[in-house]
Amino acid sequence: MNSPAKHIGLIGLGLMGRPMGMNLIKAGYPLTVWNRTASRAEELVAAGAKLAKSPQEVAAASDFLLTIVSDPPALEGVLWGDCGAMQALKRGSIYVDSSTVSPALARKISAACAERGVRFLDAPVTGGDWGAKKGELVFMIGGEVDTLKEAEPILKVMGKKLFHLGPNGAGQTIKLAMNSILALQVDALAEALALVTRAGIPGEKLVEVMQSSMARSGVLDVKAPNLLKDQYVPSFPLRLMHKDLGLALDLANQLGVALPATAAAREIYSAVKGAAKEDLDFSAVMRFWKH
Ligand SMILES: NC(=O)c1ccc[n+]([C@@H]2O[C@H](COP(=O)([O-])OP(=O)(O)OC[C@H]3O[C@@H](n4cnc5c(N)ncnc54)[C@H](OP(=O)(O)O)[C@@H]3O)[C@@H](O)[C@H]2O)c1
Repeated sequence: MNSPAKHIGLIGLGLMGRPMGMNLIKAGYPLTVWNRTASRAEELVAAGAKLAKSPQEVAAASDFLLTIVSDPPALEGVLWGDCGAMQALKRGSIYVDSSTVSPALARKISAACAERGVRFLDAPVTGGDWGAKKGELVFMIGGEVDTLKEAEPILKVMGKKLFHLGPNGAGQTIKLAMNSILALQVDALAEALALVTRAGIPGEKLVEVMQSSMARSGVLDVKAPNLLKDQYVPSFPLRLMHKDLGLALDLANQLGVALPATAAAREIYSAVKGAAKEDLDFSAVMRFWKH
């Protein structure tokens, strides 16, 4: 299963899927791809990938299928829609989904895969599009340990750390919790910057002090420059963070857990998303405080 002769299928060639696919090709894996917008496959096809006509065709060609699409409806569509992948997954193959979706959907996919004799891992990622390009993603994984062991050489081509977190759904649960924290951190930074700049002190001063304090973080390194420059080229798009906050709140609702700070942050992200005319990075939450 682990040699580069095994065929990999990749569905979803967005900001994340394209560089992940490129790393698989560079590692020598034969790759078949499909994307709703076929033109996004050009770079990978030029590098040697085969372009399939449907998700079904990708699954039929794959010993190892990877999906990374926007949200639950997109994933359900590529799996169970017209010419969907599920019906063609090969018995004995491994299917890994790295989209961020609900834990409930991960469990539904796991059950459908089990019926077909397919082993499934939910394996959402963190690390951004730059982590995808460098092959330094962090995978948060739910599923069987033995399946992960077999998938590991392929996942390691795209990621530097693999965390096994429990049964199917556990990867998605941790991912949603992680994104709530990231959303709140950036929102808190935006709020504090609004306070400092209204007081007439440059935001850079706040960031400088934070870097020497307990409040320093990776978020500060990566997102503070966006907020200070007021530039929000999508790396992790705001529309996807907004989706993830909704998924976290749905999960909390199902579990009877109150997430008041996440709920408030989602309203702020909703306001910025609603007012935006272009695709923005989630750090554009600063726009709420600028207003
Ligand atoms: N960007 C990040 O930094 C980051 C980090 C961690 C996790 N993630 C997660 O990874 C996933 C992909 O993110 P991304 O940044 O690559 O998003 P993206 O650039 O918006 O790409 C989304 C992908 O999903 C496809 N898609 C959307 N709706 C579809 C539908 N109805 N049917 C079939 N395909 C559909 C898109 O196809 P088209 O090309 O045709 O639109 C595209 O391939 C998301 O779940 C996101 O939350 C992203």
